[in-house]
Amino acid sequence: MVVGHLFLNKRVMANNKTGFTSSFGVIMAAAGSAVGLGNIWRFPYICGQYGGAACLFVYLLFVFLIGMVLLMTEFVIGRRSGFSPEKAFPALYPKRPSWKMVGLFGMFTCFLILAIYLVISGWTLGYFWESLTGTLASIADDGFKAHFDAFVASPWKPVVFLVIFLIFTLLVILGGVQKGIEKVSKLLMPILLVLVLLLCVRSLTLPGASKGLAYLFHPDFSLLTWDGILAILGQALFSLSVGMGAMIVYGSYIPRDSNILKNAMWITVCDVSIAVLAGIAIFPAVFAAGQNPADGPGLVYQVLPVVFNSLGTVGQVFAVLFFLLLVLAALTSAISLLETLTAWLADKGMKRKVAAVIITLIEVVLGIFVAYSFTGGPLSDITPGGKNFFDWANDLTGAYLPPIGALLTVIFFGWVMKKEDIYDELSNHGVLKISWFKVFYHILVRFVAPAALLVSLIASILT
Ligand code: PHE
Repeated sequence: MVVGHLFLNKRVMANNKTGFTSSFGVIMAAAGSAVGLGNIWRFPYICGQYGGAACLFVYLLFVFLIGMVLLMTEFVIGRRSGFSPEKAFPALYPKRPSWKMVGLFGMFTCFLILAIYLVISGWTLGYFWESLTGTLASIADDGFKAHFDAFVASPWKPVVFLVIFLIFTLLVILGGVQKGIEKVSKLLMPILLVLVLLLCVRSLTLPGASKGLAYLFHPDFSLLTWDGILAILGQALFSLSVGMGAMIVYGSYIPRDSNILKNAMWITVCDVSIAVLAGIAIFPAVFAAGQNPADGPGLVYQVLPVVFNSLGTVGQVFAVLFFLLLVLAALTSAISLLETLTAWLADKGMKRKVAAVIITLIEVVLGIFVAYSFTGGPLSDITPGGKNFFDWANDLTGAYLPPIGALLTVIFFGWVMKKEDIYDELSNHGVLKISWFKVFYHILVRFVAPAALLVSLIASILT
C-alpha cells in the first residue's frame, strides 16, 4: 500500500538527491525563507503602529491558527505530489487540471515579490558596504535622509548592488538543493540568530532602552483598527512565505519520514522569535538615541544610521552587524523565491541550471524597473493609477496576492483533496499518531482559515 502513494512523489523517488537530507535541513531552509525583510524592518514597525502588544497578540493568533495551518497545507501538497505548484495541484486532483491556475498565480506572486526583494536587498547590501568602508560613519546626523534619497535615485548604485546580491543568490541555487540551499541555510540561520541576539543585548543595555520596549510591548487596543487587522494578517502570511507556492516547493523536498507538524511548529517559532527579537534590537536603540520610530524603510536606512553614529566606534560595529543581519536574512528568502521559480521551469522539463539563469535574467530586468521607479529615479514619472512600480508591486504582494493564493490553496486542501490522503501524509503513512488531526482538518482547514481569509479579503476590497 505504501508503494501506492509513494509513486506519486516521482521526482524525489527517482533521484533522492534532490530533496533535503534531514528534518533539521528542512527547518533551516524553510525558516530561512520565512525569516526575511518582513521580520526585520516590517514587523517591528507594524507592531509599533497597531498597538504594540495588542498587535503582537493578534499576530500570534493569525500566525499559529492560519499561517501555520497554511504552512502544513503547502508542505503536504508538495511532499504528496513531489512537484512544484503548477503540477502539484493537478497531480493531486487529476479530474480538474485547471487547478494548476492556483499554482501559476503563485508563480506570478513570486516573480513580483522577488523583484521588490532584490531592490531592498540591494540597498541593504549597499548600506552594509558603506558601513564597512566608513562612509556611513562620516555622514552628519541630519544628512541621512538626503543620503538615502540620493542612493535610491542614483542610476547605477541600486542596480549594481541588486545584481551582486542576485549573483550570490543564483550561485546558491546552482549549487543545488542539498549542497546549495540546505548547506547555506544550515550555516546562515545560526549566524543570524547570534547576530540578532548580540544586537538585542547591545540595544537593551543602552540608557533609556525601556522607552523602546514600552513602545513595542505596551498593549494599546485603541490603535488596533480594522485596517490594522488586515495588515497583520497579510504580514502573518507574507512572513511565513505562504500563499504563493514557495512552501509547496520546499515541501516537495521534505524527506518521507520527516514530521510535517513538528517542522511547521519549529519554523513558525523561529519566524515569530526573530521578528520579536528584531523589534527588541531596533526600538530601544532608536529611543535611546532620541530618534523618531519612523516608517519601515525609513527607519532602517535613515534613522538607524543616526543611532549607530551616536554610539561611536561601537556603533560602527553595530552598524556592520545590523546590515549584515539584514543581508543574510534577505538572502535566504531570495534563495527560496528563486528556487521556487527555478523548480517550476525545471518541472516543465527545462534543465535546472538553465532555468535558474533564465529566471535570474528576467528578475534583473524587473528589478531595474522597480529600482528606477523611486522619486528622482529614471522611471519615477511613470505612475499608472497614481502609483510607481514599487508601490504597485509592494501593495499587491503585501496585501492582496498572498491572501488570495492562501484562500484558494486552503479550499483545494480542505474541500477538494481526499481527507484520507491528507491523513496519510501527515501521519507518515500511519507511522505517527496524530490525534490532533480532527481539529486540524475539520475546524482549522475547512472553516477557520478560509473564513478568516475570505472575511479579510472582502473587507479590504470594501475599505
Ligand atoms: N517570508 C519572507 C519575509 O518575511 C518573504 C518571502 C515571501 C520569502 C515568500 C519567500 C517567499 O521577508
